[in-house]
Amino acid sequence: MVKRTTSGSIAWGVMRQGRGLWTRNAVKGERVRDERLRKDGKIEWRSWNPRSSKLGAAIIRTSEDPGILLPSPGSNVLYIGAGHGTTISHLHDHLCGVENHHGGTIVAVDLSSRCMRDLISLAEKRPGLIPVLADARKLDDYSVFLTNRVPWILQDVSQAGQVELMLSVCDRFLDSEGIALLSLKAASERWKDGGDKARFSDAEARISESKMTLMERIDLRGLEDQHVMYVLRGPK
Ligand SMILES: C[S@@+](CC[C@H](N)C(=O)[O-])C[C@H]1O[C@@H](n2cnc3c(N)ncnc32)[C@H](O)[C@@H]1O
Repeated sequence: MVKRTTSGSIAWGVMRQGRGLWTRNAVKGERVRDERLRKDGKIEWRSWNPRSSKLGAAIIRTSEDPGILLPSPGSNVLYIGAGHGTTISHLHDHLCGVENHHGGTIVAVDLSSRCMRDLISLAEKRPGLIPVLADARKLDDYSVFLTNRVPWILQDVSQAGQVELMLSVCDRFLDSEGIALLSLKAASERWKDGGDKARFSDAEARISESKMTLMERIDLRGLEDQHVMYVLRGPK
């Protein structure tokens, strides 16, 4: 049965309240951007803004169990297009927790040295977060950080060729039946007659030819315009 949560726990350390999304702060008293903090006994919750996080937006918009979109606490995951670490900080709250008591790791790849500086300072207080300065298209450049296949991959790179990149990354690094989330920005793909609709159809056709199963297409319009989050599952 589909669990559609509008209030209550979504997964360990992740809670929804009406339109608001919160994660249990792994670094008490510290904000990553200018998000709200809220005390609940000994627990501190940090507001997760779905307008500045495609993963957050997908959790709000999915018509399936939102917990499917998150990896299990304590697992090892790959995040491509880490940016300044906004989404990653919330993922870390869930996957690692205070002082990484869950024992998870997030390999966070980005090619921007500015982003890397922010990620490195985030990682100093968030053990388990591993920032990697690399071009995600050069898989060999970060494979050393992924000694085993991972159960969860998120890609959010906003550049042309997003589908091909996701498929090759999954082929190489995703565990059997693992979950891969592809945040696709239509405007980043090459222009086609038919505009965004044609670009999304192209992406879906390419996915359906691959070994991956398309589980859900989550339209993020209104929270992240021109974006769709594709939820894929790897083969057995
Ligand atoms: C939309 S931002 C990511 C935002 C981030 N996912 C978040 O939610 O906080 C896209 C990021 O992808 C990175 N990027 C673009 N092309 C890349 C590539 N080929 N390899 C690695 N990172 C790339 C950019 O530097 C940028 O930081």
